[in-house]
Amino acid sequence: MTQLLYINASPREAAAASSQAADVFLQALPANVNVTTLKLFDTDLPDVTGNVVNAKFKFAMGADLTEAEAAEWQSIRNLVDQFVSTDAFLFAVPMWNFSIPYRMKQYIDLITHPGLTFARDENGMRGLASGSATVIYSRGGDYSPKAGQPDPFDFQSEVLVQNTAAGPDAQVAAVEAAREQLESLAGAAG
Ligand SMILES: Cc1cc2nc3c(=O)[nH]c(=O)nc-3n(C[C@H](O)[C@H](O)[C@H](O)COP(=O)(O)O)c2cc1C
Repeated sequence: MTQLLYINASPREAAAASSQAADVFLQALPANVNVTTLKLFDTDLPDVTGNVVNAKFKFAMGADLTEAEAAEWQSIRNLVDQFVSTDAFLFAVPMWNFSIPYRMKQYIDLITHPGLTFARDENGMRGLASGSATVIYSRGGDYSPKAGQPDPFDFQSEVLVQNTAAGPDAQVAAVEAAREQLESLAGAAG
């Protein structure tokens, strides 16, 4: 079986354009793909406390952690282990203020550590997670390139579910516009 980690960064549950687009992808997955869902707004993500920062630095240097640091570091390690042990990823991420929701950023800060999710060597940095990653971004506006030029406010890219706020049927149309691309990406994930 292929393990796919589905990371959802919208609090809007079934009403979310990103979740609806993700459902198109999930329904098109081959039968050999097992999906684990991580809803970032329903998950009690730990804070990046002083103990966590100390543990991160000590871990990178191979130093001993205090009991309190080790306890908090373990909850981080559990998230990292889940992330690096999966075979494929699906991200469903709304645009909030031209960027990602704060829970998505918190998750990135929680799992990104040298020696766990990335490594440095003579060739530079490399990620320690592997597998295909499909990233769905939903945003209220339309940030398509204009006159062949990329939109300067487009800080996201991949599968775009956009113009969701343009009217009552706009969200349905936005998800449908992405359907073909999503189904094709899902077919390749197995
Ligand atoms: C806090 C917040 C900030 C937003 N900021 C932007 C923005 O900067 N640009 C934009 O086009 N839409 C923005 N929107 C609209 C969302 O991107 C749009 O509703 C999108 O469909 C949300 O994704 P979801 O339906 O998957 O939750 C914002 C929405 C919220 C709730």
